[in-house]
Amino acid sequence: MSKITVFGAGNVGGAVTRRLIERKLCKKVVLVDRNPGKSEGIALDILEASPVDLLEPVCVSGDDLEQSRNSEIVIITAGARRKEGMTRDDLLKINADIVRDCVSRAAQYSPYAFYIIVSNPLNVMCHVAMRAGQIPRTRVTGMAGILDACRFQYFISKELNVSVENVQAMVLGEHGEDMIPVPRYSTVAGVPVTELMPQEKLDELIARTRDGGAEIIRLMQTSAFYAPASAVIQMVAAVVMDKKKILPCAAYLNGEYGITGAFVGVPVKLGANGVEEVREIELTDQERQALVKSAEKIKTQLALIGEAC
Ligand code: LAC
Repeated sequence: MSKITVFGAGNVGGAVTRRLIERKLCKKVVLVDRNPGKSEGIALDILEASPVDLLEPVCVSGDDLEQSRNSEIVIITAGARRKEGMTRDDLLKINADIVRDCVSRAAQYSPYAFYIIVSNPLNVMCHVAMRAGQIPRTRVTGMAGILDACRFQYFISKELNVSVENVQAMVLGEHGEDMIPVPRYSTVAGVPVTELMPQEKLDELIARTRDGGAEIIRLMQTSAFYAPASAVIQMVAAVVMDKKKILPCAAYLNGEYGITGAFVGVPVKLGANGVEEVREIELTDQERQALVKSAEKIKTQLALIGEAC
């Protein structure tokens, strides 16, 4: 893997860039921002640590997409930031314009790249990106399922006082208020969490997971970036190393789960060919209905910005 382009030199873009270099997931990271000073500053800050960290200085920055030509992966973190009291939906129109602009430009230089979308509202932005870049659905996906599952896993591990390494969690649907943590498929050393804690406690952890992004904003007046960056890195690693790893990501559904025409959080297989499979797991009627409701909400948002199918 030689080149990865990151759009948006905000907290998430900066953290992703740093981790890409640290993990040596590519030879060169191109950090692009509408404000070239911003990306230059972040790149320089990272590069100035290279003598201590003994990392190759591999980061370039600016708004000149020529440098990003033929990137294998393009990561879109650009967008207005969610402030306290703002829902992800408030960002809808502003960020649709930003993502449309980034992806239509990026696709001219890197038409065969795999696109990872991080900008919010996530599910809608994936759709905007796919359309703007005319990207096949196997090469565009959204990050947030891993982040949401990580939050659920962390809360479960704290509650049960066990290592996070023992905890697996499944979160489906929208990255937003209609997120669907699925306790039946969330386990501690193979045992479903439904057998390990009372329903009321589980409900508390589910609510905290749904509210995970807002909780961070309340605390630090800006959106999370360490955990989102880690989630992106897991996706990049799956593609770069052709891991064929099953991860919860936003994928464009074309009939799977009875849903067509929306990016919804589902388990997908990520490998060198991008989204190599959308996996259909068995759901209860209630879970399936929640997923369909999630998709309907996403489609309503798409209609608001004229992107409905
Ligand atoms: C969050 C943002 C990344 O959930 O949507 O923290």
